Amino acid sequence: MGEKYYFIISYGCQTNISDSERYAGQLEELGYRMTENMELADVILLNTCCVRETAEDKTLGKIGELKHLKKRNPDLIIAVTGCMAQEWQDKLFHRAPHIDLVIGTHNIHKLVSLIEERQKKSDHYLAADMTVPAFHDLPTRHFRDFFAWVPIMNGCNKFCTYCIVPYVRGREVSRSVENIAKEIKKLGTQGFKEITLLGQNVNSYGQDLKNGTDFSTLIRQIEEIEGIERVRYMTSHPKDMTFAMIDAMAESKKVVNHMHLPIQSGSDELLKKMNRGYTTAHYLELIEYARRRIPDLVLTTDIIVGFPGETEEMFEETLHFLEKTRYDMAYTFIYSPRTGTPAAKMPDQIPQDVKSLRLRKLMDIQNTISLSYNKEMENKIYSVIVEGPTKNDENHWFGRTTGNKMIIWENDNTVAVGDTVPVVVDKGQTWVLKGHIWKQEG
Ligand code: SAH
Ligand code: SF4
Ligand code: F3S
Repeated sequence: MGEKYYFIISYGCQTNISDSERYAGQLEELGYRMTENMELADVILLNTCCVRETAEDKTLGKIGELKHLKKRNPDLIIAVTGCMAQEWQDKLFHRAPHIDLVIGTHNIHKLVSLIEERQKKSDHYLAADMTVPAFHDLPTRHFRDFFAWVPIMNGCNKFCTYCIVPYVRGREVSRSVENIAKEIKKLGTQGFKEITLLGQNVNSYGQDLKNGTDFSTLIRQIEEIEGIERVRYMTSHPKDMTFAMIDAMAESKKVVNHMHLPIQSGSDELLKKMNRGYTTAHYLELIEYARRRIPDLVLTTDIIVGFPGETEEMFEETLHFLEKTRYDMAYTFIYSPRTGTPAAKMPDQIPQDVKSLRLRKLMDIQNTISLSYNKEMENKIYSVIVEGPTKNDENHWFGRTTGNKMIIWENDNTVAVGDTVPVVVDKGQTWVLKGHIWKQEG
């Protein structure tokens, strides 16, 4: 028998990439090898997202593209996994009968047995039971050297009224500190230098463990692990972020000076309707403290425009908030109604053209702010871990500062992926910095 190949695409957030690594790990144990060429694959796995309609549309388009491959090779196994699989379940088979397997967010461990079933008999197989635990001890195929994702929890209890994540990921479940520390130690010995702790809301880490553990104690416990140079985390929630956690971050030598703290809206009335559980005043207190404790803090955020009932005045409040807070970067989204969430049924849905206009205004303001931050970085030296060539150009390499700013330089073959090197910023642009590797004279 010849080589067997698998092809994976991950949509959505880092949690999905991390889950994909566990799908890949299982496939490798089965003897499959990864390919970048979909046409070669014996198993195609789409690990999907449903956070916005655009994410679903992208996936449905991709699924459509696979039809001809299936026609050519009826033995091809097409698996749709992740959040959209969890949401749609067997409806996906009706929509696209060429899909073989639909696997939900708590059933990653079922992949192998479902592939075996499918190989015995051509049929549709679904695994979407959410009552089983979310975490399973599974082989992991890390997609990158030096940089690793480490999930510390699964699920979300927040139920922001616009968001589908709690429905497709289930309730919060934290991994034990021991379990996490063990994994990170292993990563350290394997040569990984940077880890990113993952959770939909890392600041509520440990609440379900009921043993006094929280995110600040977790950070302090992994501080001493050898080999690991940088610790990142995603995503924070202003309701659960505490001063103690900011202290732990500030006092850590490894946790980086980057905080992604989604505000979502600058209007207190809208925050209430979103069920976010904090006010803009509380948020400002948090970041004022964080900036005091971590003077070089890089602050980024998420914002939604066009939430139901968002008046022109409320939107203006968001613009003012942006100008006052001065984020390094903001990820901005047009509100997308998700069936089953409370906001989808709220009155005063905003017309698409108004949403688009608001998004543009917001982005214009943010781009100016981002650019001014990046200009301030010109002619300064930053420590960067080399990540390798950029997507579009093999001759340009990139790495990130501790603050998660991406710097690109022309490759001169003097550095290797995973090296920690000093880089001088020559030019700050809105989204990216251009620079060169700093070399000591003489
Ligand atoms: N758990 C994280 C991220 C969740 S999804 C958090 O709470 O911040 C990432 C971002 O997508 C959210 O922060 C929000 O800004 C956006 N988002 C979620 N649901 C959305 C929806 N229905 N429409 C538009 N944007 C949405
Ligand atoms: Fe969604 Fe809110 Fe949970 Fe984030 S905190 S995943 S936005 S429900
Ligand atoms: Fe999308 Fe699921 Fe992440 S809905 S944003 S992939 S948790």
